[in-house]
Amino acid sequence: MKITVIGAGNVGASAAQKLAYDELARDIVLVDVVEGVPQGKGLDMYEAMPVIGSDSRIIGTNNYDATADSDIVIMTAGLARKPGMSRDDLLFKNAEIVKSCVDQAVAKSPNAFFIIVSNPLDVMTYVALKATGLPRHKVLGMAGVLDSARYRTFISMELNVSVEDVNAFVLGGHGDTMVPLPRYTTVAGVPLAELMSHEKIDEIVKRTANGGAEIVNFLKTGSAYYAPSASAVEMAECIVKDKRRILPCAVALEGEYGLKDVVCGVPIVIGKNGLEKVFEIKLTADEQAALNKSADDVKSNIAKLAAV
Ligand code: NAI
Ligand code: 2OP
Repeated sequence: MKITVIGAGNVGASAAQKLAYDELARDIVLVDVVEGVPQGKGLDMYEAMPVIGSDSRIIGTNNYDATADSDIVIMTAGLARKPGMSRDDLLFKNAEIVKSCVDQAVAKSPNAFFIIVSNPLDVMTYVALKATGLPRHKVLGMAGVLDSARYRTFISMELNVSVEDVNAFVLGGHGDTMVPLPRYTTVAGVPLAELMSHEKIDEIVKRTANGGAEIVNFLKTGSAYYAPSASAVEMAECIVKDKRRILPCAVALEGEYGLKDVVCGVPIVIGKNGLEKVFEIKLTADEQAALNKSADDVKSNIAKLAAV
């Protein structure tokens, strides 16, 4: 197993580190445009392996030669949000970066699965899908795992129970219109509505939708990276180990949930073939309307890119 991480910044370096600590790949390649940074971070991580007890080999590089024949490529390069900046502000610049990086990566690794992290996530996943020309089961966007993890964390904080017992989905695009689904949220199998008031659930739903901005406001010079990198690695692990977990991921829809020609977060079965199946659950009219709105936002950004 060989995994390339493009972007040796906060998310990319943390993802490479977790991949190595979890020994999910024998070879991990970290690529960045800044000279010395991927090499330095890669070597530093490699030197931790005797202590961690992992035989992953991490190398850093400024070009794609060493990435050849990767099984998975995690794309994190791009600009991160700064305070006051929306994910959509990143649209045009990151579209250029994503296109250029995935073009170079797929040329060296035509059989790889791509996990996209760069923002705005759903549109960048669409850009990567078009740029690589790969089928939709090989190009997945990471956002729902992170948004659901935030939602699960807030519920666990409120109930003072293990995060592991909180099961939840957040659907839709990775933005202010994401769609947390309290109706499908359970704690040890018990529906959330039986455990807390509607007001409290609404508060948690709002905090989840604002979860990225909450961290940006604290950090001031960058955005979240511990939870995002762990989330991207969880998706990679599902592919590496053929877990067939049901995780919310951004995928190109072909009529599922009544949506097509758009990338949007929905629950999927994720295994050795990447997207094994879109997992369709029944939505109420309100939930479907919220998902449609979220997908429309993604579509309008795709249209903005197409217009230039
Ligand atoms: P960062 O600024 O720490 O790292 C970005 C790295 O990309 C830098 O090291 C930079 O040199 C590199 N880079 C820029 N252009 C490049 C190119 N053409 N080729 C290779 N490397 C290049 O940013 P951070 O925090 O790691 O975030 C990365 C991206 O991930 C941002 O777009 C951010 O918005 C997004 N993100 C998405 C999340 C999600 O849920 N989907 C969550 C967190 C971050
Ligand atoms: C987040 O949700 C910035 O999209 C990133 O933290």
